[in-house]
Amino acid sequence: MIAIGSDHGGFELKKHVIGHLLEKGIEVKDYGTFTEDSVDYPDCARPVCKAVLAGEAERGILLCGTGIGISIAANKFNGIRAALCGDVYSAVMARQHNDANIICLGGRVVGRELAFMIVDAWLENKHLGGRHSDRVAKIHAIEKEQ
Ligand code: RB5
Repeated sequence: MIAIGSDHGGFELKKHVIGHLLEKGIEVKDYGTFTEDSVDYPDCARPVCKAVLAGEAERGILLCGTGIGISIAANKFNGIRAALCGDVYSAVMARQHNDANIICLGGRVVGRELAFMIVDAWLENKHLGGRHSDRVAKIHAIEKEQ
């Protein structure tokens, strides 16, 4: 299952990304927001990050207006590797190199079709392991230093 969430800035694009995933037969659970009313993006990041960390979701997708605020918030959760992607190459690398368990999109930045391509690339690629695993482990060692 893929967990998805957004603030009001990502709400519109989130609806389309959910539709895209469902069309591909991918199970998705929407953790809100559920209206266009203004909400605070850290509050929207929390339930998706917790679902991923608890193993309820394999991965997560988060959206806000730029994708910046919600990615910053998500990366405060130990164990979350959230990658803000605005292009397909970054989405591939986010999986292959960074093993990103959450991808973030800017609902006011990327168009619908590009967002679908970014999400697909991130879902279809795999972490390459090896030296990239060592680097990811070093990220989590930094968390332990805090
Ligand atoms: C909300 O206006 C906007 O600040 C938010 O969606 C996001 O872009 C923050 O990084």
